[in-house]
Amino acid sequence: MKILITGGAGFIGSNFIRYLLASRKDIQLVNFDKFTYAGNAENLADLSKDPRYALVRGDICDAPALKSLFAAGFDVLVHFAAETHVDRSIENVSPFLQTNILGTQCLLESARRAPKLRFIHISTDEVYGSAPAGGTFTEVSALDPQSPYAASKAAAEHFVRAYGNTYGLDFVILRCTNNYGPYQFPEKFIPLILANAGDNKSIPVYGDGMQERDWLFVEDFCSAISLAMDKARPGSLYNVSAGSPQPNLHIVRAILQILGKPDFLIQHVQDRPGHDRRYAIDSSKIRTELGWGPSFTFEEGLRKTIAWYQENREWLDHARSGEYSSYYDRHYTYRSETFRT
Ligand code: NAD
Ligand code: TYD
Repeated sequence: MKILITGGAGFIGSNFIRYLLASRKDIQLVNFDKFTYAGNAENLADLSKDPRYALVRGDICDAPALKSLFAAGFDVLVHFAAETHVDRSIENVSPFLQTNILGTQCLLESARRAPKLRFIHISTDEVYGSAPAGGTFTEVSALDPQSPYAASKAAAEHFVRAYGNTYGLDFVILRCTNNYGPYQFPEKFIPLILANAGDNKSIPVYGDGMQERDWLFVEDFCSAISLAMDKARPGSLYNVSAGSPQPNLHIVRAILQILGKPDFLIQHVQDRPGHDRRYAIDSSKIRTELGWGPSFTFEEGLRKTIAWYQENREWLDHARSGEYSSYYDRHYTYRSETFRT
């Protein structure tokens, strides 16, 4: 099976590549990534000598680059590449329109011309907007995105469906809740807590900290994507979630307790504008139809994540200092699949 991954140098993409290489023998993987600030070549360092894996630097908005890439002929495309941080989307919406909407459409143009390609589109629970207390959204709930990031992801989904309907593209959309685990950039909440607590620095909690997120360990999302590659019907859509939303404050306190750090590190700061109060989705469809379920409880996933960040202090230091951004140039030839060292 020949698999094209976009955005594989980011958090979930790099975990997914590692997951596929460990769980499948007969595959060829190409990782196509622009290496924005969120693309970290250190995430991939241990993979670069695997003959089943190749890296190509490029932008999903670059139609000629995609044309030559697609000439290789792929069976499956897993589309992770995106601008992903809500706070950045509030500061500057343009890159979100560019990559998440126009970039996805550009990719779809190549994909629709590729014979027998399955397009797995990675989306988010944020497209539904904030869930009412006690309620959950199912796959047929209306989309009601509330942040520029969520709006761009909802728009991208509409194009994926439109290409399925209009051009017969074989697609699957997965809407997942917040992921956590190894290799997550420390601008996101859980690695930020770990980084700051490790240095006895204060932990910024937006507003009252009672906003709820349904955290899923990244390996569990990888297993859902892998199942969807093989078993999902063309044109299907699945929610993916652990099914236990928790307030942000509980997450901080749980981490501080495991680390043996004091609660006074928690600092309530000004809330994010338009902050969604609660994300909660029902994932019974993927559990029933594809037999998926998470393998890790939140407690287990959190302990594994904490252990990983403690054992990979250098990765975290490089991510925070910006040193990671020169790794690509030091180790790779631009636009080549050759690993230099
Ligand atoms: P990330 O920000 O860690 O990584 C994004 C990757 O995309 C980076 O490697 C970046 O270099 C690459 N990229 C950005 N623009 C590109 C472009 N124009 N061309 C090629 N590559 C480009 O993201 P993540 O957290 O791993 O999320 C991956 C996907 O999963 C995204 O589509 C996101 O919307 C979705 N998602 C994430 C979460 C989460 O909790 N992280 C939850 C649900 C869905
Ligand atoms: P984040 O990791 O940015 O994911 P998302 O906004 O996509 O859900 O944030 C997770 C939650 O944590 C969200 O409710 C915002 C909150 N948060 C803080 O309270 N402080 C912070 O410094 C950050 C980055 C997030």
